[in-house]
Amino acid sequence: MNTVTFEKPTVEDGAAMWELVNNTTLDTNSPYKYIMMCEFFAETCVVAKENNKLVGFVTAFIPPERPDVVFVWQVGVDASQRGKGLASQLLLHILNRDVCSNVKFLEATVTPSNKASQTLFRRLAQKLSTECEVSECFAENLFPGNDHEKELTFRVGPIQ
Ligand SMILES: CC(C)(COP(=O)(O)OP(=O)(O)OC[C@H]1O[C@@H](n2cnc3c(N)ncnc32)[C@H](O)[C@@H]1OP(=O)(O)O)[C@@H](O)C(=O)NCCC(=O)NCCS
Repeated sequence: MNTVTFEKPTVEDGAAMWELVNNTTLDTNSPYKYIMMCEFFAETCVVAKENNKLVGFVTAFIPPERPDVVFVWQVGVDASQRGKGLASQLLLHILNRDVCSNVKFLEATVTPSNKASQTLFRRLAQKLSTECEVSECFAENLFPGNDHEKELTFRVGPIQ
């Protein structure tokens, strides 16, 4: 069985993160955004690799005005690796880093139709023996055009 390793990303990982996102239902962004996250937020981001190939990642950051929160921007897992607990392990990996020693809540926004992601955060709360609160975050009318759902905040915590 091949081993999946978890690492802090480097700028060399940005292009593969962008490619993985382009193969999912996640919002697409420029390659620059991923390279920038790898350069400036590597401490709160993680990549999973199998045989040196990127198979999953989490991009996250600690908002400067809320040092007890780690905000997860995107979670992506290659279709071949889904349903094996990889996304949950990636989130727990970040929470276990020293940089998160003062973090009490993990937050992410999720669209109402993204059931996989909703289950991911609800199950994370159960695994951490804590709560998952859901509230409105970004209303539909903030997005241009008519093809973006609203985004709900999933707030997991307090985390011990
Ligand atoms: C959402 C996503 C990251 C989950 O990755 P994953 O590695 O398969 O997730 P895990 O295996 O850790 O699953 C976590 C929990 O969610 C559940 N789950 C995962 N996919 C699911 C699905 N499609 N439907 C319902 N539940 C699902 C799992 O059963 C698991 O619960 P369990 O611990 O009780 O078994 C992955 O499906 C993905 O990359 N999707 C496309 C991109 C996306 O939507 N990203 C999230 C937006 S931030």
